[in-house]
Amino acid sequence: MRIDIIGAGSLGLLLAGKLINAGTEVRLWCRSEEQCRRLAEEGLTVSCEDGRKAIRLKGTRFQAAPISRFAETVLQEPGDWLAITLKQNIFHQALPEILAPLRNSRLHAVCFQNGNGHLELLQELLPEASIWAAVTTEAAKRKTLTEVIHAGKGEICIGKRSAPRQESHKNAQNEENTAAISLIEALTAAGFYALMSKEVDTMIYRKLLINAVINPLTAIWRIPNGELPASEERMQLMKELYTEAIRVYDACGIAYAADAWEGILEVCRATSGNISSMLADVLAARATEIRWINGSIVAMAESAGITVPLHRWICRLVEGMNVKER
Ligand code: PAF
Repeated sequence: MRIDIIGAGSLGLLLAGKLINAGTEVRLWCRSEEQCRRLAEEGLTVSCEDGRKAIRLKGTRFQAAPISRFAETVLQEPGDWLAITLKQNIFHQALPEILAPLRNSRLHAVCFQNGNGHLELLQELLPEASIWAAVTTEAAKRKTLTEVIHAGKGEICIGKRSAPRQESHKNAQNEENTAAISLIEALTAAGFYALMSKEVDTMIYRKLLINAVINPLTAIWRIPNGELPASEERMQLMKELYTEAIRVYDACGIAYAADAWEGILEVCRATSGNISSMLADVLAARATEIRWINGSIVAMAESAGITVPLHRWICRLVEGMNVKER
């Protein structure tokens, strides 16, 4: 199996490293020429914090190439799967141009983003493609351009959204499912706990709720996830964000578990030492995904005709954090 991975950040490097190590052919598409050069020279390392042996792969065992060459390469030599691990902002900025030559291609693509809105964009860019969503609880931290730390084992759940436009012919569905099973087998062989789910919509909204509470607050307070429930004041703001989001879910008819609040506290515990992806972005002075996380709660609220002042305010607060100082 040949897998193209667009995005060589923490998750992209983790997927690539473990898949290559298990014998899958991987082409890794990077945004910077420097990263391609260093991956070719230094190889790729996946290390662990729990003392497990690191995976060290020579640069000759995989291809790392600039994302600008992705479309021409895939047109000549198609891959079996495309995994997109770009952050939401880069996804929205860069993919329309990069994927334009592939508009009529029947790719199998799987998206690993937090938040909402990217699957619809990808389906618009690639109308013939079979688009899958992946919801993962794997934790990874990129240490350098060529090294990633596997900070916590989780699961990778893959499924198709139940949007009516994605309903396809039975033969096409069988072909899509067979391709998805092969992907799951490759991920399993690589040591991931991967599964296919018919409940991916529920999982996307469950993760959105988790991210909408944990990510902005950890980014603003600059604390690891485990510190979030450490005081009454913090818990109160978490709960207010949660309650506002739940009102939106109710208004939009989106299902959530009766113990969704406890689920958020459990994620804080299970990932207590980790810093959230939004805090990592803020610390690295990168744009955050706030627009696609809390911003998508605001958009859903607008469409349902209800107000969410706290989510609206927190979007503006986090968006203001990464304006470059003059
Ligand atoms: O975005 C993140 O950091 C993660 O999705 C989560 C679950 C909040 C854990 O850090």
